Amino acid sequence: MNTYNINDDIAEVLLSAQEIDAIVTRLASDIDRDYPTPHKRLLLVCILKGSIVFMGDLMKKVHRPVEIDCMKVSSYSHTVSTGELKISLDLTRKDLPDIDILLIEDIIDSGKTMARLTALLKDRGATSVRCMSLLDKPSRREVNYTPDYLGTVIPDKFVVGYGLDYDEKYRALPYIGVLKPEIYENT
Ligand code: IMP
Ligand code: MG
Repeated sequence: MNTYNINDDIAEVLLSAQEIDAIVTRLASDIDRDYPTPHKRLLLVCILKGSIVFMGDLMKKVHRPVEIDCMKVSSYSHTVSTGELKISLDLTRKDLPDIDILLIEDIIDSGKTMARLTALLKDRGATSVRCMSLLDKPSRREVNYTPDYLGTVIPDKFVVGYGLDYDEKYRALPYIGVLKPEIYENT
């Protein structure tokens, strides 16, 4: 029988499941350390869809109370304007006084999406807006932006797995890897 194995499409594993787990444990303890007052509301916002696996693992390791919500956002890459943010799913509650927001992101690339979203949520009155990103490709940056919390820097390679996709595939891989070039060439 000839079964398809998506692991065969991966050229190189950049971060193993075990390495990711250690990073996520460290990031969760950063949250407990930096948001120590349990009665102050902390909202973790999962940036869909790439952060869904990271968010799920991260929130299980946090000990202080957290609220969760999701947003789906993207920035228009064809424009230089800084105001262009496309929101296809917004927060359930848009009034945000007395809430600390921590945006949970899979990867920072140009930096446009997180820079714009942070400004928008501050405008809506959140007490604080920070970002925790699992990955960062600083060599790709187009705007001045640094995430407040970072898992690890990676080289300028297109990565998949642990929530990250290529053409909506590979999100379910338990590790982060680089695709074989022929996968791009065949599509
Ligand atoms: P930016 O920082 O505004 O350019 O947008 C970052 C978004 O681009 C991430 O949230 C991902 O959805 C996507 N992205 C950037 N680099 C990669 C990658 O290597 N693999 C998969 N998605 C990526
Ligand atoms: Mg994303």
